[in-house]
Amino acid sequence: MCGIIGYLGDREATPILMESLKRLEYRGYDSAGVAVLELPKNGDPTRTSVTKSEAKVDTLIEKLESNMPSGRLGIGHTRWATHGKPTYINAHPHTDCHGKIFVVHNGIIENFAELKAELEAAGHEFPSETDTEVVPHLIEANYKGDFLAAVRAALKRIKGAYALAMFSSDDPELLVGARLNAPLVVGLGEKEYYIASDITAIIPYTKRVLVLGEGEVAAVTPLGAEVSTLDGVTIKPKIVHVDWDVTQAQKGGFAHFMLKEIHETPEAIANAMRGRLSDEGLISFREFDVPNEQLRNLNEVVLLGMGTSLHAAMIGEYVLEDWVGLPARAADASEFRYRRPTFGDKALSVVITQSGETADTLVALHQAKARGALSVAVTNVIASSAARDSDGAIYLHAGPEIGVASTKTFNSHLVSLYLLAMQLASANGRISLERRRELVQALRVLPEQVRAILARDKEIVKLAHKYSKYRNFMYAGRGLGYPVALEGALKLKEISYVHAEGTSGGELKHGPIALLDDQFPVVAVCTASSTKDKMVSNVHEIVARNAPVLALVSEGDRSLDGVATDVFEMPAVEEASLAILNTVMLQLFAYHVAVKLGQDVDQPRNLAKSVTVE
Ligand code: G6P
Repeated sequence: MCGIIGYLGDREATPILMESLKRLEYRGYDSAGVAVLELPKNGDPTRTSVTKSEAKVDTLIEKLESNMPSGRLGIGHTRWATHGKPTYINAHPHTDCHGKIFVVHNGIIENFAELKAELEAAGHEFPSETDTEVVPHLIEANYKGDFLAAVRAALKRIKGAYALAMFSSDDPELLVGARLNAPLVVGLGEKEYYIASDITAIIPYTKRVLVLGEGEVAAVTPLGAEVSTLDGVTIKPKIVHVDWDVTQAQKGGFAHFMLKEIHETPEAIANAMRGRLSDEGLISFREFDVPNEQLRNLNEVVLLGMGTSLHAAMIGEYVLEDWVGLPARAADASEFRYRRPTFGDKALSVVITQSGETADTLVALHQAKARGALSVAVTNVIASSAARDSDGAIYLHAGPEIGVASTKTFNSHLVSLYLLAMQLASANGRISLERRRELVQALRVLPEQVRAILARDKEIVKLAHKYSKYRNFMYAGRGLGYPVALEGALKLKEISYVHAEGTSGGELKHGPIALLDDQFPVVAVCTASSTKDKMVSNVHEIVARNAPVLALVSEGDRSLDGVATDVFEMPAVEEASLAILNTVMLQLFAYHVAVKLGQDVDQPRNLAKSVTVE
């Protein structure tokens, strides 16, 4: 986790580092710091100014504003603590014994204890408790007059995950970046260069981005960026053009990024379909162009993800089974990676990851690939690790998502999975032309239907305020409504810190119902589906235990009138569309509860958007 940024160019570095750190804050926000190589005055030797804060980026910015270092080379960091508490000493950048080498790091150095012991024995001193601190000391130990060579030698000794930005005050025109199992990009501007954890940080400055590969090092000088391996072999850099614009990464008048991003859902899901769906329901993905014959041969689909993406995977599982008739299973990637794999080269592994950088999901992907499975990443980030490491990619094109709790991208994932299911179903002949046309029609009107739910925000605010007095919630659903219930509960607990759990309607009686009383409300997903009547029976069972019920029902369905405490009517549409519409309603409900409780909606405590450690 953690966000890192580096700058080398002909402008003042500090304001750029400050602004970029604000943009990176969603990656972690428990402490922050910058190091700027100050321009020498009157022939003085160069000096590096380090400013740190043991709180969020805003407090660092306040410090910098009152004492702004002046220089053209600098690095910055916003931290999500893994080793050592979020204190001033543990905040990055870290330095060597002589205060010459400065490093910011995202990731975990797994063999840091061993390296630290070795370096301590050689006389190095470590004021912090971090794993990162071994990096500048290891570089120092390997330094023989060539900073880049020392970096390479040091990195060869490091095991684990790192994205690093580094400089030495002895080399005032050299900024170095390196990555292994953690994302890092190099932004290429006009006479200026950036190193950043991700593109979001640097879109105001440049749209030309060099994506660093695993185990590669970028040496950035005023002449450009050179990429090489740890052995010093030069690599032809991969440069991509990013089409996000700056306003997409700002709040645009909304109180929070989360609210703005929920409101961007109509556009996001339209983008997920754009150019991929014919009137006849034939699907083409530009970056996942597999012949029908190969698709026909698939005998299993494994959908891998974490958090919200795992819930999207669960919906994918239902839809793939139903529409394609293929065995499909959604798996928690962090569990999957340690299980004995049972599938082989006729499987398709679908990795679902907004960021494309979730460590557990990436390892699970690598395992699936090692078994010979065909792989496709469904991701929002172009050239992210998941996209690069898979055989193909289905890009969401949802624009940046800044709120830590995923919202619009969940629904973009669903649309993408629906398209994938239609593609597989067409390839194996399991879906009629008529059904395909129905689905196309349902998908095309979906953005408008989402807009209609968003327009009912006031109704949702009222419900949220009414229910915000409760400290426990159960969410229940069946079929597609079950993962939707899990996602609704996850959203509420993530951002409001109110206890919420999700269950299938059937499972309710096998334990969870014991919790219910008049202080334990249930959000019941009872919209039209083949199991709707069963959900209605579940609601009766819940009401008999005095629990308040907020039921989502399809328009015109009167079966819960006078039974549920509150009924929220959804349009009577396709079940697959309802999964999206119900989710939007539950996202808004969670958002308004959290706002009412005064929580930090965009940056909930203890969480980070991109979880790049196991
Ligand atoms: C973190 C975020 C979640 C997200 C999950 C998976 O836990 O807080 O919102 O769903 O990571 O992220 P991914 O980028 O792989 O979809």
